[in-house]
Amino acid sequence: MSERIEAQPADDFLADLRLGLAAHDPGPALDRLRERDPVHWVEQLGVWFVTRHADVRRLFADPRLTPDPRAWERHRAQAASDGAVRHFENPFHDDSPGQAGRARRIVSAALTPRAVARMEARMREVVDHFAAPLRERRDVVDLLDEFASPIPGTVISRITGVPAKGADEDRFRELARKTVRSVNPILSDDKRRRTDQATRELVAYVRGLTFERLMQPREDLISDLLQVSEGGSGDVVEDVVGIVAGLVATGTEATVLAATRGLYALLRHPDQLALLRADRALLPDAVEELLRFDAGLTEMPRFALADFELHGAKIRKGQLLVLSMAAAHRDPRVYAEPLRLDLRRRPRDLVVFGFGPHYCIGASLARAELRMMLGTALDFLPPGARVLEDEVRWSAKGLANRMKSLPVAFG
Ligand code: HEM
Repeated sequence: MSERIEAQPADDFLADLRLGLAAHDPGPALDRLRERDPVHWVEQLGVWFVTRHADVRRLFADPRLTPDPRAWERHRAQAASDGAVRHFENPFHDDSPGQAGRARRIVSAALTPRAVARMEARMREVVDHFAAPLRERRDVVDLLDEFASPIPGTVISRITGVPAKGADEDRFRELARKTVRSVNPILSDDKRRRTDQATRELVAYVRGLTFERLMQPREDLISDLLQVSEGGSGDVVEDVVGIVAGLVATGTEATVLAATRGLYALLRHPDQLALLRADRALLPDAVEELLRFDAGLTEMPRFALADFELHGAKIRKGQLLVLSMAAAHRDPRVYAEPLRLDLRRRPRDLVVFGFGPHYCIGASLARAELRMMLGTALDFLPPGARVLEDEVRWSAKGLANRMKSLPVAFG
């Protein structure tokens, strides 16, 4: 078992953990765990919870672990009722021989500097489109609903090649948001069903688009992916479909979360906001520090491929480990005064995008998007803008406690 906790009886500690991690600010509970029980067995969930920066970073890249949920002892294979079944398995997570890194290689080949430059231009259009109506507003604006939320889904749909504007784009964005839950291994049956349904629809939509691009290539990611995958057999289409669905599912919501939390943190730290307004060159550093301070995406799963021991915890093959990036980013061993937002900090070794062979493929895209979104927000946020704290809506509870609204008084 993991290290004993001296200060509190185990039951109290678990209750505390449950309450602490379900609170709006799970930070103090994470701090306690990191110091007292860095590889903590959460009995109620049947998972190991890892909180130290050095462990989180190392385990992201540890070959004894995989992000592939098929290695989990509680994995339930999806009913093979339709052709979409293989896309429930994210191709980026497939570590099996011959497949490991395959999806990454195909995407990297399509993300050439030219393609990324094309993306930045499209991103600019999208950010400006959603920012324009906010410039003259002086009432209460929900920055989540009106700004942070629609942008990443729209950016990824434009990059992918979904026709701009209209019902298709709206539907795609909606599906993109819903499929993100598929990365969470612990979901209620109901949520799992709804997520699977969204994945099915997304896959069907992308498949249609992929066949269209096969016939008539355009300047978009699907066309590029088809080209780098070579040829045009049925399998290539399915590969591309899986990759695009995987990109959408992993890339959209994480960016929404980071942008929302970034805006929230800035508005709650007027001195730092003023600093950034006074020196826009600080924007790249500001994004790094905001990602450290509160990125919204708080943890990632890993599944054990072998038995091993860590800080006295006996991890068994098939078990689920939760790597807490939120706890790692508050680890005082790495970040001095971690609770202080300091846009000049230049935090090193962030784990917000993971580490090692599965490091986020979209990291530079996400960073560019966040810089653009936050920079544009500085233009439309009036000097006296303030968050209406009492009216912020949060998801009910849970580790990844999400904001459901970010009401800001512009007047
Ligand atoms: C702030 C925004 C983002 C955050 C915080 C984030 C975070 C992460 C993390 C932590 C991982 C590592 C997963 C692991 O090791 O299991 C990851 C992987 C991945 N991300 Fe992101 N991501 C973001 C944006 C994006 C975007 C915009 C895209 C694509 C357009 C994207 C595509 C991917 C893909 C495809 C993987 C899987 C890589 C692999 O397993 O080889 N991400 N992301």
